[in-house]
Amino acid sequence: MKHKGCLHPETLMMGYGYDPFLSEGAVKPPVFLTSTFAFRNAEAGKHFFELAYGMKEKEPGEVPGLIYSRLNNPDLEILENRLAVWENAETSLVFSSGMAAISSTILAHVSPGEEVVATTPVYGGTHYFLSKIMPRWGMRCHWIPAGSTFVDELEQRLQQPDHGVRMVYIETPANPSNQMTDLKRCLDLCRRHGTEERPIRLVVDNTFMGPVFQQPLKLGADITVYSATKFIGGHSDLVAGAVLGPQELLAPISEMRTIFGNMASPFTGWLLMRSLETVGIRMRQQQANARAIVEMLKEQDCVEKVYYPGELDDEQDRIWRNQCSGTGSLISFDIRGGEAEAFRVLDSVKHCKLAVSLGGTETLIQHPATMTHSDMSPEDMQHAAISGSMIRLSVGIEHVDDIIEDLRQALHTVR
Ligand SMILES: Cc1ncc(COP(=O)(O)O)c(C=O)c1O
Repeated sequence: MKHKGCLHPETLMMGYGYDPFLSEGAVKPPVFLTSTFAFRNAEAGKHFFELAYGMKEKEPGEVPGLIYSRLNNPDLEILENRLAVWENAETSLVFSSGMAAISSTILAHVSPGEEVVATTPVYGGTHYFLSKIMPRWGMRCHWIPAGSTFVDELEQRLQQPDHGVRMVYIETPANPSNQMTDLKRCLDLCRRHGTEERPIRLVVDNTFMGPVFQQPLKLGADITVYSATKFIGGHSDLVAGAVLGPQELLAPISEMRTIFGNMASPFTGWLLMRSLETVGIRMRQQQANARAIVEMLKEQDCVEKVYYPGELDDEQDRIWRNQCSGTGSLISFDIRGGEAEAFRVLDSVKHCKLAVSLGGTETLIQHPATMTHSDMSPEDMQHAAISGSMIRLSVGIEHVDDIIEDLRQALHTVR
């Protein structure tokens, strides 16, 4: 097996963590479609369980044995080793969806009576979980607008006595506004206000830029979470999620996954390994297309504002330059008018697909206020700067001239 440190992630995605000669020489890992694994003898079975349930520590270099696909499976294990490479993480866990990864992470690290401080906007499902599901178990969420002023407001919150904050949950760039939040300054506040007994964990949803253009763990974040449905999967043909971080912080999340049973299936794991081979070239091509589309949008009279890294204000620019190596391929823009004008554009595209989700090879267009973020209250939407005029584009890898032509003719319908 090659050593992680010597090669680039793009190279490691072709074979890292897999020995063909354990599988008849197959160059690609087979799909291990099995629910359970045979033990060589009873003693071996007993030992595997002792390791899995934490009754014994692994010997140095020991690989825990395979037991049952809710606990471990070769496709997920190889995939988890490969995913970890991107952020130089100690380990990773793959889930049946991004929401499974996010909810398990929060439930593993926050207890009744404690608080999560989160950026707003965040993905609609995350907003729902934090604002509607968590309070049922006595946990609360304090929302602060994503972007340049987040850190100052976070500091004020942490200065309040008995704040109860155990997690700072950040989506950067935020979905759908593309507002960026300064991770290093957040980390500094988490460390200063957390204690050894009551640490404050910094958790980052890295779905928009990761794993290629942003690596929060390298910037000091405790845990990153992903909807692997998006760029990591990249073909809009699966739903999955992932969590990356140190073993110590992922162990309680792994316990949740074992008991909730929200791990990904072996076939999903296999599809994700296929996708990781091309994630770099896909994301770079999507970004190149997005940049050309941003230039076209800026020339349109009917487009009031474009939300894209590098197109925001100076402070946003500074944060983006400090923590990202690219601009990505999610563009939001406000159309002059409101929902009616936005809908006219959505109903006029011919090649772009009118669908939610993002990060796939095809260009998708949607209306956050009535689709992905529609379960936010009007006040929460206003707080998060999402309006009826906003349209979100996830740019694909089609020929850029065709996407531009399609969008241009759709935009002309509102002139
Ligand atoms: C930023 C972000 N995080 C998390 C999710 C949830 O992921 P999933 O749909 O895989 O559960 C999404 C879904 O759109 C998302 O956009």
